[in-house]
Amino acid sequence: MLTIRPATFEDLDAITEIHNDAILNTVATFDTEPKILEEQRVWFANHVPKYPILVAERGGLVIAWASLSKWSEKHAYSKTTEGSLYVKKEYRGQGIGKRLLKAVIQEGKKAGFHSVMARIAEGGEASIHLCESVGFEHIGVMKEVGRKFGKLLDVHLMQKIL
Ligand SMILES: CC(C)(COP(=O)(O)OP(=O)(O)OC[C@H]1O[C@@H](n2cnc3c(N)ncnc32)[C@H](O)[C@@H]1OP(=O)(O)O)[C@@H](O)C(=O)NCCC(=O)NCCS
Repeated sequence: MLTIRPATFEDLDAITEIHNDAILNTVATFDTEPKILEEQRVWFANHVPKYPILVAERGGLVIAWASLSKWSEKHAYSKTTEGSLYVKKEYRGQGIGKRLLKAVIQEGKKAGFHSVMARIAEGGEASIHLCESVGFEHIGVMKEVGRKFGKLLDVHLMQKIL
């Protein structure tokens, strides 16, 4: 059974482990250095309660997380937010990402956000497909805006109006 619930401070170790695997091994995030718990505590404190962080738990194990974050420091953007979604490697392809993404979008609606953005690096077909399946539209491509693992990367910009 899968439980989706708001993250707590106690989930930060599991969230960090999932995130760090993606940082070190994928272009899903343009972070390049693994996160340490201290940074994650600041990240958590800056999100909750205004910006949701959800975890998916199975058998007492946190196996995925999703969040909405501030899109810009500029106040006029305050109803726009950016989604993040990470599923632990061995649990991908089982529908968990989709359930969690839908749940975090629901939280975003409740919190009164108007627009959710997603930035997806080239090669992220699974993420693009997933976003489209829950109503995101493809806005455009930012060409060669990142460099990771020695390669310049395009980023797809997607958006869902809530
Ligand atoms: C992208 C990610 C979150 C998807 O989560 P997931 O639990 O594996 O996805 P789901 O099983 O819910 O699948 C959702 C949809 O994507 C499709 N999909 C899954 N993996 C796919 C792949 N490799 N290629 C194409 N489509 C794929 C599924 O078929 C499903 O489509 P459907 O609803 O039409 O059947 C997960 O692979 C992940 O954590 N990747 C690393 C981090 C990452 O890329 N995060 C997103 C950053 S924007």
